[in-house]
Amino acid sequence: MRAALVDRYGAPEVLRIADVPQPDPGAHEVLLRVVAAAVTSADARIRAARFPAGLSTPARLVFGLRRPRRPILGGAFSGVVESVGARVSDFVPGDEVCAMTGMAMGAHAEFLVLAANKLVRKPAAVSHQDAAGVLFGGTTALYFLSEKAVLRAGMSVLVNGASGAIGTNAVQLARHFGAKVIGVCSGANAELVRRLGADRVIDYRTTDLSCVAERFDVVLDAVGNLTIASGRRLLTPQGRLLLTAAGLGEIMRARGNVAVGSAPERAADIERLLQLVAQGRIEVVHERSFELADIALAHRLVDSGRKRGNVLVCPGQS
Ligand SMILES: NC(=O)c1ccc[n+]([C@@H]2O[C@H](COP(=O)([O-])OP(=O)(O)OC[C@H]3O[C@@H](n4cnc5c(N)ncnc54)[C@H](OP(=O)(O)O)[C@@H]3O)[C@@H](O)[C@H]2O)c1
Repeated sequence: MRAALVDRYGAPEVLRIADVPQPDPGAHEVLLRVVAAAVTSADARIRAARFPAGLSTPARLVFGLRRPRRPILGGAFSGVVESVGARVSDFVPGDEVCAMTGMAMGAHAEFLVLAANKLVRKPAAVSHQDAAGVLFGGTTALYFLSEKAVLRAGMSVLVNGASGAIGTNAVQLARHFGAKVIGVCSGANAELVRRLGADRVIDYRTTDLSCVAERFDVVLDAVGNLTIASGRRLLTPQGRLLLTAAGLGEIMRARGNVAVGSAPERAADIERLLQLVAQGRIEVVHERSFELADIALAHRLVDSGRKRGNVLVCPGQS
């Protein structure tokens, strides 16, 4: 099978397409044909060994000291069951499913093997592209807004980085929960962010957030340029600061009304997001879809820090 390999850390050019043996599913595993997989900010971070401030050494211990331990990246995908292991009874060949693959990654390939208990059925009303696109940013936005902020109707939310993978989902989820949403992005993305449900947009190129006098019940930073001090300054007295891209310093000092950490990959959250997509309550924003052979271009787009929503690779196309 064809797969995109990252044998060494570096620029997008380190990616190479190679023929590798197709994996065999173990007793509790499923062999899946990947239809669409997201190329995320996490994939780009791992490829480049570009981790948040202070986290380089711990991240390299996890992902590989000198080169990626798992050369096939890709942690969110949608596809079709090809075959199942001897002890798998919940799925049959032809089932349409999606999943997040955790530390195993491996979705930037024509096929991958995954434990059956990680799979979520894709509703027929949701395309493979939308399923693959919503997982990464959607699970993160949902976790931080609903669990770390316990967002309720009537609250005000500032979403910093409103046009990215987390941001486009955060704006729509916050709106779905009945909150008043203020999105921060460049002017070029203002119309998109308003269409997704923001009541108002702040263009960070013309307005410095440190000069904003307004206070918010929740501030979600999906850029990584807010500190605990600069984020707290934007909060109401009972407000909560959600730092999705915190460096080591912020992680060590986060307490009280500041939340950091990694969003869990839970089937229940994925099912909830897919239902919202199927009902038309979440629009999955796609910047572009690439063939597997062009995955370096996808990484370059993610590296720009300017992508709108999600970037996909579709390994079935050639
Ligand atoms: N904690 C977790 O579990 C978790 C999970 C997933 C990701 N993350 C982290 O969260 C961060 C965001 O991830 P993502 O995938 O959503 O990123 P992304 O999709 O790459 O974000 C790109 C967007 O950021 C906007 N942007 C860039 N600079 C900005 C600025 N100064 N102010 C406001 N918006 C700006 C860009 O809009 P413009 O073009 O308009 O500038 C672009 O649309 C990453 O650092 C990632 O590692 C954390």
